[in-house]
Amino acid sequence: MEQSLNEIREQFHRDLDAITTAESLVAIRDKYLGRKSGLIAASKKNIGKLGADERAEFGRQVNELSREVETEIERLDVEISARNEEAALLRERVDVTLPGTGASGGHLHPITLVRQRIEDIFVSMGYSVEDGPEIETPFYNFDALNIPPSHPARDSADTFYVSDTLALRTQTSNVQIHTMERQKPPLRVIAPGRVFRRDTPDPTHNPMFFQVEGLNVDRHITMADLKGTLTKFVEMMFGVNLRTRFRPSYFPFTEPSAEVDFSCYVCDGAGCRVCKGTGWIELGGSGMVHPNVLETVGIDPEEFSGFAFGLGIDRMAALMYGIDDIRLLYENDVRFLEQFA
Ligand code: DAH
Repeated sequence: MEQSLNEIREQFHRDLDAITTAESLVAIRDKYLGRKSGLIAASKKNIGKLGADERAEFGRQVNELSREVETEIERLDVEISARNEEAALLRERVDVTLPGTGASGGHLHPITLVRQRIEDIFVSMGYSVEDGPEIETPFYNFDALNIPPSHPARDSADTFYVSDTLALRTQTSNVQIHTMERQKPPLRVIAPGRVFRRDTPDPTHNPMFFQVEGLNVDRHITMADLKGTLTKFVEMMFGVNLRTRFRPSYFPFTEPSAEVDFSCYVCDGAGCRVCKGTGWIELGGSGMVHPNVLETVGIDPEEFSGFAFGLGIDRMAALMYGIDDIRLLYENDVRFLEQFA
């Protein structure tokens, strides 16, 4: 009998040595201490085979083994829990001395950066910055700007109509009219903003792009003022010692009209890739405000005169940042935009 209890004890210690988890500990408890089929309970069944004098001693030994098994299991249970807790703490440990992963900050779009620079330059010359509607009536986008009813630019092949009476503006020149309706001369304003045209996108065209309009109306404004202003702008924007040239052109809302170019800041007029070998870079359109336009907004063209200009912001951004495809400006590819942070 004693032999058998000792065997149970030895088997128990072997089982215990092999244990690693709390779950297997539960199985061991069942195996030895289970009330019905546990090994210790089973050995108690033999008690009947013993003589009366042996029974008390056997009972004592069984109880002792029972307590021993109970105590050992308890001890191991505490040990395994402690080990698990320690492992969990280690796993979840936060090293507060590690450098942080800083949140990446946003930044302004290249078009915005260039627009702000243009605004700063003209504000420094005494201009104020105006805003105007992007959805416009034909009156402000065409009629008031002396654009005849038959002009091809009005066609729905060139202009995005929103309804019979409204279209997305095709030029920022509409702000000239809004401004002169509100304000009487002297006035000096620029109006940067989006314009829309039914163009097929290619490296130099996009159906939506940015212009900056300029308007200066006062007594005795002449073409010399226009030339001086744009030449100064070119110097401040692209570099001192650059020259401008004014080529005769035609716009319905100016007379006379001129296309403005400036000498290439890369080759200084010699001809290179940036100026496509011409030595000159196109800046935009300009001219003296047409008397019809002044009359339409109730300004007497005998008393006042003015100049106006319209320049492409996208083109300037492309030049300043060396971008060879303006569509990149509108694709919102972060890898592209991040370069201008
Ligand atoms: N609105 C013209 C365009 O989009 C640009 C322009 C030319 C504006 C001459 C002007 C100007 O104010 O005087 O092509």
